[in-house]
Amino acid sequence: MQIEVISLFPEMFAALTEHGITSRARQRGLYQLNLINPREYTQDVHHTVDDRPYGGGPGMVMMAEPLAAAIKDAKASLQARGLTPTVIHLSPRGQPLTHEKVMALKDCEGLVLLASRYEGVDQRLLESLVDEEVSIGDYVLSGGELPAMVLLDAIIRQLPGALGDADSAQEDSFVNGLLDYPHYTRPEVFEGLAVPPVLLSGHHAKIRQWRLQQSLLLTRAKRPDLLAERQLTKEEARLLKD
Ligand code: ADE
Repeated sequence: MQIEVISLFPEMFAALTEHGITSRARQRGLYQLNLINPREYTQDVHHTVDDRPYGGGPGMVMMAEPLAAAIKDAKASLQARGLTPTVIHLSPRGQPLTHEKVMALKDCEGLVLLASRYEGVDQRLLESLVDEEVSIGDYVLSGGELPAMVLLDAIIRQLPGALGDADSAQEDSFVNGLLDYPHYTRPEVFEGLAVPPVLLSGHHAKIRQWRLQQSLLLTRAKRPDLLAERQLTKEEARLLKD
């Protein structure tokens, strides 16, 4: 996957490229990340990327022209490599990011992410060059960089080969539409709390069942909406009744 990110603060993306799973995935060549600063696409000496809103009001608006030039360049470099680009603007007005959305986007050949700042982006830019808008939740952040990194982290860990065995086991719970079960490691007793005996039993079938039951109970207690969206198997229905 080839990813082009358009941002006034490209250095923020070191959080993704320099640390952990997303860094290793990049070293393994599972994705390429190219950072583009829209200031490089300005014509004036001050490298202006924002201006006052027509109609008045507070804050500044990101101008369409530098962003359009940056997006067109990003798309052209993807197309030159035979990759179909999908242009996404991170915005609180976008469709909520879900596991399903992540799984759909992980198959994109080329992604162009626009991380905007200020009060917003000129609407005409959104209408002419952006394919979709994605939100990471119903709250407003100072810019689209963190949402872009959230989206990229979620996508990159789904690329084949990104996760080792140890990591991918955890993934199952999400694929399952349930919350993850509780985890324990040494010591066997901490603050007077013992590790559930079944986990020390060595009985793999019982451990699997206990974990599934814990996932179901946790999901029912904390996120009943997830259970409502999902058909229970016979085993799951029984585990919830026990
Ligand atoms: N930009 C600012 N807030 C955002 C949010 N919640 N989701 C996506 N992009 C944003």
